[in-house]
Amino acid sequence: MSTGVTIWFTGLSGAGKSTIARILEKRLKAAGRKVEILDGDVVRTNLSKGLGFSKEDRDTNIKRIGFVCHLLTRNDIIAISAAISPYREVRDYNRSLIGNFVEVYTKCSLDECAKRDVKGLYQKAMRGEIKGFTGVDDPYEEPLHAEVICETDKETPEQSADKVWQKLEELGYLSKSEAAAKRA
Ligand code: ADX
Repeated sequence: MSTGVTIWFTGLSGAGKSTIARILEKRLKAAGRKVEILDGDVVRTNLSKGLGFSKEDRDTNIKRIGFVCHLLTRNDIIAISAAISPYREVRDYNRSLIGNFVEVYTKCSLDECAKRDVKGLYQKAMRGEIKGFTGVDDPYEEPLHAEVICETDKETPEQSADKVWQKLEELGYLSKSEAAAKRA
């Protein structure tokens, strides 16, 4: 019997949350698991459409994602959240709500994220054209007890995905045959 779990990514924009989430999704599906990704950018075009980036709106966004993850997890699905989720308190709220919760901190320096600038938003934020951008002029609270820390400016996305996989195995969220599927 498979056990549901929420893999909760947190980290700055551009730190690699979605990239690692997609690698994991592929591997988990190949092992026969049902997986759903809740990506911040996607959620904000539907479930959280209309919300902005004030603390209140971010907390609402993160609680909505947490609620959906809760529903999926209790049905033995692997839910993967990939949103900045900058505030510790609401991440911890989701942890208590969901129970089976693996927090993954994609740790990457602001300099490196700004250098990557995949969406061109850091440049705008640094010029003052976007106000309240996480890490630039808005807070990011690092997790204190993340199950996994991926240092994405030092490791490849595949190595980061390996770390998460190993933790899922260690915590009993993958059966022996599922875990073996990856090694095959
Ligand atoms: S969260 O803070 O509520 O968790 P979420 O992950 O959904 O954020 O959305 C972050 C994405 O929105 C970023 O990757 C970026 O593309 C975009 N974005 C637009 N404005 C901001 C902002 N002020 N701060 C952070 N991200 C922003």
